[in-house]
Amino acid sequence: MDKRLKIGVLYSRVRVEEKWIFAAMERRGLDYERLDDRRIYFDVENPGDWLQYDAILERSISYARGLYALRILSSWGIPTVNTFAVAEACGDKLATTTALSQHGVPQPRAFTAFTTEAALEAIEFLGYPVVLKPVVGSWGRLLAKINDRDAAEALLEHKSVLGSYQHSIFYIQEFIEKPGRDIRAFVVGDRTITAIYRKSPHWITNTARGAEGEICPLTPDLEEICAKAAQAMGGGVLAVDVIEHPERGFLVNEVNHTLEFHTAQPTSGVDIGDMIVDYVVSVAQNRA
Ligand SMILES: Nc1ncnc2c1ncn2[C@@H]1O[C@H](COP(=O)(O)OP(=O)(O)O)[C@@H](O)[C@H]1O
Ligand SMILES: [Mg+2]
Repeated sequence: MDKRLKIGVLYSRVRVEEKWIFAAMERRGLDYERLDDRRIYFDVENPGDWLQYDAILERSISYARGLYALRILSSWGIPTVNTFAVAEACGDKLATTTALSQHGVPQPRAFTAFTTEAALEAIEFLGYPVVLKPVVGSWGRLLAKINDRDAAEALLEHKSVLGSYQHSIFYIQEFIEKPGRDIRAFVVGDRTITAIYRKSPHWITNTARGAEGEICPLTPDLEEICAKAAQAMGGGVLAVDVIEHPERGFLVNEVNHTLEFHTAQPTSGVDIGDMIVDYVVSVAQNRA
């Protein structure tokens, strides 16, 4: 390699994941810069200094900040992990569902509707219980399991009266009777590198909601569905949420493009931060 690579890391806060990522960059002696998303700005028609970066890793906590930053960087031809298109498709649950569907990846049955009346009709057609989710959201926030028509009517009314613009698109899924856990698998490039179970007595099994991590063996079936899901979204560094259906087997619930791995890394013993850095370096090398 002739030229020294320059990597940027766009971040909001140095969480444990960023600590691991920065440590991996330092171990390699990489020339990298921390780009605080509260302090940067973009002169949209003039990339200027931004062009020094051979690749930028996006680690913003805010989906909107990350997405808009990626949009601009991508317009300048700066390689990013993940790409703007991947972030756009992963950040919106309906966009994820359509991408998975186009690629034949098994997933829970999903409906969408634009009015409370149509949403109620879809829910009744699907049958209870159903899960209602905001199309953009994370950490299990504002998910609702609806067990009967009374709850459906009340929730839809609350959403339409009190909800913001994003809540005007109703995203409805069948509820899957999963075995007290789901699976969070990590895909880097074309490899599924590790997976954990997230166990909880609650039906929402995000670690942000108190679920506990446990190592999950990587079987060929799991690897295959995760790789397929990652490919459907456009590839990169992705975390795939998989639900185990008692009869239909693995179903992909969603795909995350700015991954948290505070639980998965110690649980699995796999240095996920290090593998992300490897991937970013390969993206940067492709450009340099
Ligand atoms: N259709 C469903 N059936 C059963 N459990 C679900 C369903 N959808 C979500 N969950 C549970 O809720 C968790 C969070 O849902 P998810 O769609 O991943 O939202 P978020 O983006 O907030 O993580 C999942 O990890 C899973 O445990
Ligand atoms: Mg999730």
